[in-house]
Amino acid sequence: MTESSLPGGSVNTVVRVGNTVRRTASARTPYVSGLLELLETAGWDGAPRHLGVDEHGREVLSHLDGHVAWEPRQPAAVSSDASMVAVARLVRAFHDLTAGSALAADQEVVCHNDLSPRNTVYRPVGGELRPVAFIDWDLAAPGERIHDVAHVCWQYLGLGPSVADAADAARRMRLIADSYGLGRRLRRGLVSTVLWWQDRCWRGIQAEADAGDPAMRRLRDAGAVTEVRTAYRWVSDHRDVLERALG
Ligand SMILES: Nc1ncnc2c1ncn2[C@@H]1O[C@H](COP(=O)(O)OP(=O)(O)O)[C@@H](O)[C@H]1O
Ligand SMILES: [Mg+2]
Repeated sequence: MTESSLPGGSVNTVVRVGNTVRRTASARTPYVSGLLELLETAGWDGAPRHLGVDEHGREVLSHLDGHVAWEPRQPAAVSSDASMVAVARLVRAFHDLTAGSALAADQEVVCHNDLSPRNTVYRPVGGELRPVAFIDWDLAAPGERIHDVAHVCWQYLGLGPSVADAADAARRMRLIADSYGLGRRLRRGLVSTVLWWQDRCWRGIQAEADAGDPAMRRLRDAGAVTEVRTAYRWVSDHRDVLERALG
């Protein structure tokens, strides 16, 4: 069967073969396979199915039809309030399915750790594109609910200097926290968790690029370290307005 490369990834070589996707396996693959199997057993459709390993040792996943929002310009529906509500509910659903499982180990839940429009499949629902599934579960690991919720706020709201209206971004952060059902006490830590992500993100890219990782070198050379550092500064500068909306 013919292989076609899939655009939109920044780290892995991902190809499509028929109704499947093939990704280079890594040390994380057994954990991720176990997670995808747990989600499948629960009947949750928000993730690809793990279908095994192919003759080249690659991970085989089901291909999810729809629109993956990896390009910089996107239809307005992708960033609409309704899509933010739907993303938050999807995250809540898989968190609840993993809470208390062996995969969550001693943590609250299994976190995806890379939730962003680039890793989200959108389909028309009632005529408008809405998020229906997440892909790219490579970084999934035991974690705290707030970690994924903060990553969602950062990535889906684009928290950084391109935000036109900080007060509106603050309102939308609250919408995400409400739609997820993040408790009042926990949400006080949401902005600092966004900053924690941004800080570890640019430092991680820098360190791995310095250590010679080719994918991280490409990201750094494309300006990712500077971009994330600038986003960190923007969130620090707007901390008050963001936190006031969550209070
Ligand atoms: N299960 C899937 N169904 C549909 N498309 C997929 C699937 N997995 C990956 N893709 C496509 O391949 C691209 C890269 O895959 P991804 O897993 O995000 O790789 P990377 O780790 O490099 O970001 C995605 O942007 C998406 O377009
Ligand atoms: Mg990806």
